[in-house]
Amino acid sequence: MDLLENLKWRYATKKFDASKTIKEDDLEQLKEAVQLSASSYGLQLYKVLIIQNKELKSQLREAAWNQAQLTDASHIFVFCNYTERKNEHIDEYIQATAKTQDTPSEKLEGYGNLIKQSLSAKSEAAWQSWSEKQTYLALSNLLTACAELKIDSCPMEGFEQEKFNKILGLDEKGLNAAVIAPVGYRSTEDHTQFRSKVRKPKEILFEEI
Ligand SMILES: Cc1cc2nc3c(=O)[nH]c(=O)nc-3n(C[C@H](O)[C@H](O)[C@H](O)COP(=O)(O)O)c2cc1C
Repeated sequence: MDLLENLKWRYATKKFDASKTIKEDDLEQLKEAVQLSASSYGLQLYKVLIIQNKELKSQLREAAWNQAQLTDASHIFVFCNYTERKNEHIDEYIQATAKTQDTPSEKLEGYGNLIKQSLSAKSEAAWQSWSEKQTYLALSNLLTACAELKIDSCPMEGFEQEKFNKILGLDEKGLNAAVIAPVGYRSTEDHTQFRSKVRKPKEILFEEI
């Protein structure tokens, strides 16, 4: 399977080659892979910012413990979860399903209500955690799609959320930066690429019952 070879090729890139930029059609493919991510109920309760602006990247680097990936990567994907539960998010999803699958929306109303009940039953902490978790599935699709296109990436939680939210004006939009991924091309000087992967042996990681 080519996918396994590509997953072995990928690594969390520490040093990107700042002179290289991702081509527009590759970027479109990455966006499509993120768009196709699975999400709970199919709601996709997040927004993904894709940042190329140099000035903004520098500001974000300062809010990410000065990690060089923020300025040297071609683009930064910022996965933002919605901070508030809103019935309109579910209504929009129901409408989209009705339209796409040519089903009368009245038939989907019960399902919509079920989702609303289930989400409103969560505590605030459980909602925030659930909401952030959704973005990690999209992150994972991005990392895999990057590997398939031989584009480098680095998943990152090492940044100050509050500062990111402020710099990117996310609070006003009801969004929160959950996790980020700079993407681009590895520098030949990044020694991390030559290190062997550290992974648990399958006998320990899996238990077949
Ligand atoms: C959610 C998440 C957050 C991470 N945060 C950072 C980070 O802030 N900075 C960094 O250099 N690497 C970060 N990493 C990369 C991990 O250290 C790396 O994926 C792990 O050591 C496995 O190595 P590999 O991805 O190169 O195979 C993060 C990875 C994940 C999945």
